[in-house]
Amino acid sequence: MSPEMPSDRFVRIAELSAHAGQSVTVRAWVTHVRSSGKIAFAVLRDGTGVCQTVFVKNQLAPEVWERFAELTTETSVAVTGGARAEQRAPGGFEMGVTDLQIIGTSPADYPIQPKEHGIDFLLDNRHLWLRSPKQRAIAVIRSEIEQAIHDFFYEHGFLRVDTPILTAAIGERSGLFATEYFDLGNAYLAQTGQLYGEAAAAAFGKIYTFGPTFRAEKSKTRRHLTEFWMIEPEVAWNDSAANMRLQEDFLTYLVQRVLERRGAELAELERDITKLESVTVPFVRLDYGEAVAIVQKKGSVTQWGEDLGAEDEALIVADYDRPVFVMNYPKGAKAFYMKENPDDPRTVLCNDCLAPEGFGEIIGGSQREDDYDKLLARIHEEGLPVDAYDWYLDLRRYGTFTHAGFGLGLERTVAWICGLQHIREVIAFPRMMHRLRP
Ligand code: 4AD
Ligand code: MG
Repeated sequence: MSPEMPSDRFVRIAELSAHAGQSVTVRAWVTHVRSSGKIAFAVLRDGTGVCQTVFVKNQLAPEVWERFAELTTETSVAVTGGARAEQRAPGGFEMGVTDLQIIGTSPADYPIQPKEHGIDFLLDNRHLWLRSPKQRAIAVIRSEIEQAIHDFFYEHGFLRVDTPILTAAIGERSGLFATEYFDLGNAYLAQTGQLYGEAAAAAFGKIYTFGPTFRAEKSKTRRHLTEFWMIEPEVAWNDSAANMRLQEDFLTYLVQRVLERRGAELAELERDITKLESVTVPFVRLDYGEAVAIVQKKGSVTQWGEDLGAEDEALIVADYDRPVFVMNYPKGAKAFYMKENPDDPRTVLCNDCLAPEGFGEIIGGSQREDDYDKLLARIHEEGLPVDAYDWYLDLRRYGTFTHAGFGLGLERTVAWICGLQHIREVIAFPRMMHRLRP
């Protein structure tokens, strides 16, 4: 430590309450300053909390008082002083300053100012925008949800399996990012880990994957990213009904966990938590045909056979205060691997889970086709390259098994729980059709 650095203990702002009455040093960034000539205040942020620091001119060395004048928004500092409870201060604690060191100055042109900025400007400055209180609240809730996901599956005896990002087999119909792969032709960035998850389920029983997935979708909607994170459980011997029970238990666990532990962050986002409190099992279950009838009655032009669009989904959930499962879509609207519905072979045993308040599809799930010949026929029908799926077909050749799983889109789930209309804010550095920087 350099001689001029204070020798007191460094603490994080969140730890101040454990140091009441002691002299401590906080290293942080300045969010704002104000001064009345004899007394001055700097509010600090260090990611764990915010803290007001109080400078009293006649109690400070003159050079420390003068240094206060150099503080600008986002100057990084080490502030030493006595920690004390102060109910009126943001965070409930403040520091009576005895010393101030400037670590990094911050010129007056700091791009993000306390005024309305356009979304493109904010996204261009995403590396700095992350420092704002709202963005911190979102990041904290996302991290809580990620931890809760791991805890849920761990407690339920699932194995986490990491599946490849560079793949040869195509999982979904949406666009692919291709890259040259040595002498082996094209590799594709994984759209899903599911096919590998199915192999792992036959080996390990109950598994889940948690990884980044990629879709070269030219959709500029509020719920599409080109890179997003997906959680995909796959369970040997689960049928479609058991698959939905797992989904509702899982989602209610995630919502409860955020309500229990992240109330302050939900409040920062002004989230109406009564909407989250009504997320309880059982969720609503609608057959696809019923769903089409509902949206048609409300004026939609969607016909039986078509996938449901975002507007249809909003019409469906409008009648309910909890998530809705829409079950058993027509074969033509869904992916090749879904199991034919024995009660209506025009349809497959699948479900989407639609979040309430108009947030739409957050989960896609299905029972998988376990009949070798039917699966092979579907691969042909879809025009997929059969040789890329030889290993996947092996799962039906050697001890085929009833199994089901689903994919939860992390960003859509976080956006819903946070009550945010656009998913671009719930990932630190969003990747979208027109955005690769920062
Ligand atoms: O419905 P999808 O395409 O299903 C699958 O990928 C299956 N292989 C999952 C499985 O059964 N294992 O995607 C699942 C979820 C969607 O419900 C949505 O939440 C999210 O992934 N998702 C996206 N999120 C952000 N941006 C995109 N472009 C997304 N595409 C899908
Ligand atoms: Mg889907």
